[in-house]
Amino acid sequence: KGDPRLEAISDAIRVIPHFPKPGIMFQDITPLFLNHKVFKDTVDIFVERYRDMAISVVAGIEARGFMFAPCIALAIGAKFVPLRKRGKLPGKVISEAYELEYGEDCLEMHVGAVQQGEKAVVIDDLVATGGTVSAAIKLLECMGAEVVECACVIGVPELIKAENRLNGKALYMLVEPN
Ligand code: PRP
Repeated sequence: KGDPRLEAISDAIRVIPHFPKPGIMFQDITPLFLNHKVFKDTVDIFVERYRDMAISVVAGIEARGFMFAPCIALAIGAKFVPLRKRGKLPGKVISEAYELEYGEDCLEMHVGAVQQGEKAVVIDDLVATGGTVSAAIKLLECMGAEVVECACVIGVPELIKAENRLNGKALYMLVEPN
């Protein structure tokens, strides 16, 4: 907060009303990637935060977490671990189901992607209820990794008030929804 880069990041997020369903105000991050400075600033903010924390795992959540997590991983010298929706990863996986507004979904991680004791951060574009990042935390902890923090570009204010915590982990967020 107070970082002058954040206003440009917020301005680069476009709201598409009623997508993909009536009543949803979709936060479209694609314009952010069309502006090299804004794209780089977004990645840099995470890199500045995580570079000196001995983090060896940057886990990204399908699909839009994949647009940031590998960039951060490369810059801080960590591995990138994709956390995918059900049935997408070809190897042996562990799975964690989580609640959606209607029904449930599932995140999966390859067995062997992280080792016991590794320090990890979880990256996604947006955190709303926190259900998705909570499932991600469980997958990493199940394999013995230590989740330092979760981070997203867009976080809802209600989660800020809830002391930024999910499964006892901090949530670092750059901007609020437009
Ligand atoms: C969105 C978003 C997060 C998740 C956040 O993905 O990219 O991953 O919802 O919601 P939550 O905090 O309430 O769990 P979505 O489920 O739309 O899937 P997609 O990336 O495959 O489009």
